[in-house]
Formats: sequence, structure tokens, C-alpha cells
Amino acid sequence: MKILITGGAGFIGSAVVRAAIPRGHQVVNLDALTYAACLDNVASVADDPGYAFEQADIRDRAALDRIFAEHQPDAVMHLAAESHVDRSIDGPGDFIATNINGTYEMLEAARAYWTRKGKPGDFRFHHISTDEVFGTLGDEGKFTEDTPYAPNSPYSASKAASDHLVRAWHETYGLPVVMTNCSNNYGPFHFPEKLIPVVILNALAGRPIPVYGQGTNVRDWLFVEDHAQALLTVVEKGALGRSYNIGGNNEAANIDIVRKICAILDQRHPEGAPHDKLISFVADRPGHDFRYAIDASRIRDELGWQPSVTLDQGLEQTVDWYLANKTWWQNLQQRHGVGERLGLKG
Ligand SMILES: NC(=O)c1ccc[n+]([C@@H]2O[C@H](COP(=O)([O-])OP(=O)(O)OC[C@H]3O[C@@H](n4cnc5c(N)ncnc54)[C@H](O)[C@@H]3O)[C@@H](O)[C@H]2O)c1
Repeated sequence: MKILITGGAGFIGSAVVRAAIPRGHQVVNLDALTYAACLDNVASVADDPGYAFEQADIRDRAALDRIFAEHQPDAVMHLAAESHVDRSIDGPGDFIATNINGTYEMLEAARAYWTRKGKPGDFRFHHISTDEVFGTLGDEGKFTEDTPYAPNSPYSASKAASDHLVRAWHETYGLPVVMTNCSNNYGPFHFPEKLIPVVILNALAGRPIPVYGQGTNVRDWLFVEDHAQALLTVVEKGALGRSYNIGGNNEAANIDIVRKICAILDQRHPEGAPHDKLISFVADRPGHDFRYAIDASRIRDELGWQPSVTLDQGLEQTVDWYLANKTWWQNLQQRHGVGERLGLKG
């Protein structure tokens, strides 16, 4: 399959690009190269004859039309988005523009292309979304594909809106779509403003490790390379118009994740041990959802996907990757806003 992947220079998109090529697909990576992008993430496949890169903005309809016409993809995997909740609190405008208007332009460009080709039934528009659209859980229960939407942050509201657009383009125009909603990802190439890289890099530098509130917020963590395999499984085999929740069955409170990482670093990088002495509780994020947990039984039972690593294995691999790839993260730490406390303006 030739797959047009948007956001393929970001964290999850690049994992999909790196996994798609050895799985036998051709890839066109469409990315605007915002602050969150890094082409080094796809260096391992960039010279493959099945790989092409297009620098373009998903809000630029003329560019999208040219790219569809030139590359003639069999499927789209739409990951390009503004993705950082704290940045969405300080500046929601970019999230509305990219996540909502950009998805609208992608849908219209895909629909025009698919219509020109005679509406092939095997075309796929795969929209990648988040479990944050479902809002927050109490101590019990899990999100299923039927959980009502109740987003609480500008980020999750913009993603919820884009999910509704995708569903409507399927119901109204018959565009062949599949949708996925995934829990928090972690792993190699995670941009150094997100929780897990912040913990690793601050611990290595001997700087305070900021933990929002009391660290009791619970997330359901998924190793990014497992997510990439799940997404490729859905674009290859997912049922038309169906949505799939993807999760790792790895619920953990933020403070427990931080302590696990500190314990791994105590072994791998004993200078500065014990690293958990650096933990520093800071003001909570406004509107901070208490708990997310995914019921991933549909994708397991219908498509045969399940995660390949446990949380402990994935965290060890992640810490080892950051220890071995210092130049990658040092370059990104220079980017605007990285290392600053964002998201308190609300
Ligand atoms: N990170 C997570 O834990 C998580 C969990 C579930 C779902 N998701 C979803 O997965 C997708 C990818 O997330 P991520 O963490 O890899 O994000 P990311 O911020 O690391 O990467 C986003 C990529 O999109 C590109 N992009 C942004 N605006 C663009 C525009 N207007 N036009 C073209 N490209 C643009 C950026 O340059 C970047 O390469 C997003 O849709 C996000 O909502 C993320």
C-alpha cells in the first residue's frame, strides 16, 4: 500500500513511518515541520526508495491537492496535530486551526481525490486521535468506543471536533474512514517537553523533576512502537467506519512512573542516585483530568493486536534510548518553550 502519513516527523508519526517501510508499504511523509518535528526521527528509512517527504501544511488545500495528485496514495494516516495540552492552555488558536481546520482540509482534499478516482472502496482515511476526547474517569471503569465524548482541555476539544468531522464525512459522503483513539504514548524520539522525557532529562541533569499536583493522576501508558503496529493493523484490516480504542493495559499514577524511571536511572546512571530526591511537586495543570484507562478489547478480539512490551520493559528501553541519543535531545532542548513551565495562564 502507498500511505500518505501526515505528521510523520513527529513522535508517533515517525514511529509509524519507521514501521511501515519494513512492513512492505510505501510512505509519503507530509509534515509542516513545526517546533515538534524532527526529520532525524525518520533518518533510518529516509534513503529507502519507498520513502518520500513533502514539507506542507495541512491547512494549505492547494498543497494537499498537488500531493494527492502527484503521489496517488492508497490510504491516508492522519496524525499531524498540535499535541501538547499545556501549550493548548496558553495558546488554543493553533490547536483550533491545525486540529480542526486542518483536518477539514485533509478530509476535503482526500474526498476530492477519492471521487476523481471513481470512489474506490478499498481507499482508507485513517484518523488518529486520543482517549482524552472522553474526558476523565473516577477510580473505576474504562473508556470503550461507545463512551460519550466530554473533552476538558482546548487540545482534547479540538481533537474531539476533528473526530466528529471524520465521522460525518463517512456518514454524509461515504468517505471510507477508520478511526483510532489511543492512550498516552512513550518511547524513543518523544519530544523533550512531555512528562517521561522531562523526568529522564531533568534527573540526568540533576535538576528538580516537576510533578503536577500530588502526582496522583493516572494514565494508561502505551509504548510508541506498539502503537505504530496497532495503527498499521487498523489501516490494513480495520472495518469501514469503525473506531478502535488502543491502550497498553498499563495504568499508573504519574508519581509511580516518575519513581520507576528514577529507579532505572539509579542502576543505569548511578551518578546522582538516588534520583527520586529531585522530585518536586508543582502547581497542578488547570482542568487536569484525573484518570484515563482504555478498554482495548475490540482491537484485540477483532484485529488480533496486543501490546508486545510491559510498562517496565518499555520504560527500560526508553531510558536506554535517551542515554544513547544525547545529541538528538540536546538539539531539541534549544527550541522555544522547551524546559519552561507552560499551561498556567488559564
Ligand atoms: N502523544 C500521545 O501520547 C498521543 C496519544 C494519543 C493520540 N495522539 C495523537 O497522535 C498524533 C501524533 O501525536 P504526537 O505525539 O506524535 O505529536 P507531535 O507533536 O510529536 O507531532 C506532530 C507532528 O505534526 C506536524 N504538524 C503540526 N501541525 C501541522 C500542520 N498544520 N501541517 C502539517 N504538519 C503539522 C508537526 O510538525 C509534528 O511533526 C496527534 O494527532 C495526537 O493527537 C497522541
